[in-house]
Amino acid sequence: MIKGALKEDALRGKTVVVTGGGTGLGKAMSSYFSELGANLVITSRKIDVLEETAREIENKTGNQVLAVACDIREIGQVEQLLERSISKFGQVDILVNNAAGNFISPTERLSANAFSTVIDIVLKGTANCTLTFGKYWIAQKIPASVLNIVTTYAFTGSGYVVPSAVAKGGVLTMTRSLAAEWGKYNIRHNAIAPGPFPTKGAWDRLLPGELAEKFDFKNRVPLKRVGDHQELANLAAFLVSDFAGYINGEVITIDGGEWLQGAGQMNGMEAVPDEMWDMIESTIRKNNK
Ligand code: HXC
Ligand code: NAP
Repeated sequence: MIKGALKEDALRGKTVVVTGGGTGLGKAMSSYFSELGANLVITSRKIDVLEETAREIENKTGNQVLAVACDIREIGQVEQLLERSISKFGQVDILVNNAAGNFISPTERLSANAFSTVIDIVLKGTANCTLTFGKYWIAQKIPASVLNIVTTYAFTGSGYVVPSAVAKGGVLTMTRSLAAEWGKYNIRHNAIAPGPFPTKGAWDRLLPGELAEKFDFKNRVPLKRVGDHQELANLAAFLVSDFAGYINGEVITIDGGEWLQGAGQMNGMEAVPDEMWDMIESTIRKNNK
């Protein structure tokens, strides 16, 4: 079992808002932030899911958790999220833009609405939250930290998830752009690009049914395993904490080497069995003469 990496109370006195905090990776990060002493606000569309997660985390950590229903595509709902967070905890210090929408599909099968639904959740939703919280921090002169959860295909692009790739690429660009522009207000922006971390939300939409076996992600990863949620939570907690106070505009990949494995021209040679290498070596030496 992977252990928590940060010092006890590393986030004590901070208020963290996590979008998509009721499920999957958002829940794992939220739970660890609360364990480290943070006041926690979790938000997404489904209030019943959020309430259940909030009680579960409170029971585990003994720290307060506020659940707020909010569709991040709607700016008015995001403004209410900020207001409710401030009225509960007095101040907000950290925003984790984790909520996302995605599904696997050949691009030519997508309707215009399907394409824009994903863009609206991932890119517009992240922009709505960042803008709303950023204006508040700047007006109140509060030092703050934003963490955006992207993906490795934000930098490589990927077929079959094109709206998501386009939107995550935009979020990564926003991360770097605002790191530069809002650094002067003491607002840091960073991103994490996770590789495969099994969650119900992602696996139901990306690897439904037989796809999960046919396309087992761990075979694509040099470390031959998928990620553990606590590994991601450890990195996220560090990046939002004051320990990472001089890290601004960075994206950290946590994927066991997956995307480099796919990029390196000769990495497919892994399929060559050991006994064949003697033959290959002698052929090359012979050709050298
Ligand atoms: C084609 C589809 C579709 C599919 C929906 N649509 N599913 N088109 N193939 N499988 C179309 C609909 O027909 C509709 O278009 C449009 O998309 C919007 O669909 P709605 O159901 O009305 O949207 P909404 O209720 O807003 O739900 C959004 C959603 C849904 C994205 C479609 O899946 C969702 O709520 N997702 C949230 C959670 C999530 O996606 N988690 C995974 C994140 S994983 P028309 O034209 O008919 O109106 C992730 C991992 C990356 O990002 C990397 C992993 C390794
Ligand atoms: P998940 O459990 O499905 O998380 C997505 C969350 O977003 C849900 O809690 C969902 O809650 C929320 N959400 C969706 N639309 C929303 C909206 N319009 N407004 C507010 N909240 C909304 O999937 P996950 O795997 O944990 O993904 C979390 C993040 O990690 C995403 O950014 C994803 O792209 C990223 N990621 C995951 C992986 C992986 O392997 N799992 C890899 C790379 C990147 P509601 O339905 O209640 O709204």
